[in-house]
Amino acid sequence: MTLIDGKKLSETIKQEIAQEVEAIQKAGGKTPHLAAVLVGEDPASQAYVRSKVKSCEQVGFQSTLIRRDASISEQELLDIVTQLNEDPSIDGFIVQLPLPKHIDENKVILAIDPRKDVDGFHPVNFGRMAQGLPCFIPATPFGILQMLERYEIPTSGKHCVVLGRSNIVGTPISILLSRKAKVGDCTVTLTHSRTKDLPAEVRRADILVAAIGIPEFVKGDWVKEGVVVIDVGINRVDDPTAKNGYRLVGDVDFEEVAPKSSFITPVPGGVGLMTVTSLLLNTLKAAKKEIYP
Ligand code: GUN
Repeated sequence: MTLIDGKKLSETIKQEIAQEVEAIQKAGGKTPHLAAVLVGEDPASQAYVRSKVKSCEQVGFQSTLIRRDASISEQELLDIVTQLNEDPSIDGFIVQLPLPKHIDENKVILAIDPRKDVDGFHPVNFGRMAQGLPCFIPATPFGILQMLERYEIPTSGKHCVVLGRSNIVGTPISILLSRKAKVGDCTVTLTHSRTKDLPAEVRRADILVAAIGIPEFVKGDWVKEGVVVIDVGINRVDDPTAKNGYRLVGDVDFEEVAPKSSFITPVPGGVGLMTVTSLLLNTLKAAKKEIYP
């Protein structure tokens, strides 16, 4: 069993980005600039955004954090999006999800200029992704592709089972892995809450992508020997022995599944760190106008 080390890989990629930033600056170019909008006090969202801003600093990007109270109106938030769209100093920005219930997330995503949509959530980027055109790939699926590529895990002709059909992870990764591409050419099964006999589906997987948000859901007897496991789950479970009263676990029961795996991502230290790194890569692409010249 090989552990896919998201920490090490993300550090390597961040070093590569930092070198590119230095080269851009030396050539007199503009420092890439990411903005993040955080609404409300959701602890997980706060942690994610903190990590995104900190990572910007590590690679030499400029970053701007815009924080607003959960009581912000939809129109006020849409106005912030418009300002960011029009601000030439900002290369890319994200609006951290979830948003408070009174705000229509789809409306906010649709308001983002696709050229600055470094989360890859806008339907223009999503559609381009589905058609294999240049686009911003959503950060988590992009991170998964890089893990598979850099660990040289073969994907062509493999059976990939994806657990969960979210717009952010399950649906895009199922499209990406079925595309004709260097990391792709999989036969993909996208499973969800209505799938019959989930363990039987999962047992067919050469590559399993678990993204359902249920702690330690996938058990050892659900997987076949030699499976490649990409665990996207980041779930907080109570742990009185831990300093902050909780610990993080994935969607896969690591103790049971790891011994049967050929490759597996740990939680923490796996996909989560790659998500942040991918956002930086997308921001660099935005700054270089690589996707939309
Ligand atoms: N919430 C959970 N994951 C993400 C993400 O990748 N981007 C944004 N904007 N919100 C999220």
